[in-house]
Amino acid sequence: MDTASKGYNSKRLGIFSRFSEMRALIAAYRRSPEARVRNAIAEVLVAIAEIESALGKPLQDLDILEIGSGQHSLELAVLSNGNRAIGIDQENCDDRLNVRNVLRTMKTDGFIRTAKTVVRKSMGFDKAKRKEFLRQRGIASFPKLTIMQMDAESMSFPSNSFDVIFSGAVFEHIANPEQALRESARVLRPGGVFNCGFHLYTSDSGCHDARIFANR
Ligand SMILES: C[S@@+](CC[C@H](N)C(=O)[O-])C[C@H]1O[C@@H](n2cnc3c(N)ncnc32)[C@H](O)[C@@H]1O
Repeated sequence: MDTASKGYNSKRLGIFSRFSEMRALIAAYRRSPEARVRNAIAEVLVAIAEIESALGKPLQDLDILEIGSGQHSLELAVLSNGNRAIGIDQENCDDRLNVRNVLRTMKTDGFIRTAKTVVRKSMGFDKAKRKEFLRQRGIASFPKLTIMQMDAESMSFPSNSFDVIFSGAVFEHIANPEQALRESARVLRPGGVFNCGFHLYTSDSGCHDARIFANR
């Protein structure tokens, strides 16, 4: 695989694949938010158990970085409980649906990402997901999160800034994962833990291939 200049799933999709992908995504979002939220929480709880076992202490009162926290940020919301947690993402993760924010997303992330975000938000999928998150976690309001727009390959944090780094379903998207790993090692304190989960390469364009999404 050539990762020198682009991520493995940066292959351009034609209009039919895009349409297929959009339909499959909407169908996936329509399916029970209950199960999707439960899975997301379960995955991050497994990661937390692994991190605590590697650290030899509870995940409390620590500086945590999530790489590629995305627009849903449920994992960051769990990690931030009792810790100082920051997320970074190369895309605009400001979740307000207004003209200014849509234009900003268009400028930084392009038309496809903007269209997906607008559809998700205007159809209420994000709202339903957050509401379900509050219900499952038994909390009244979603925690205030800090998410910075930043490339994992070139982070602006000083060296030795974090006790823990967490990343899920991101490294397969990064154009130069080796550089992102070097950066992760730089910002992680000695004795720190990096918990990194990613999809395996199952095809030319990986698990995020629209044909797989659309069951073809
Ligand atoms: C499949 S999403 C996963 C989001 C979230 N971690 C989750 O599990 O729901 C991949 C995320 O990685 C981000 N990403 C890709 N390349 C990145 C990079 N070089 N630096 C920071 N974030 C990146 C994307 O913008 C996207 O939000």
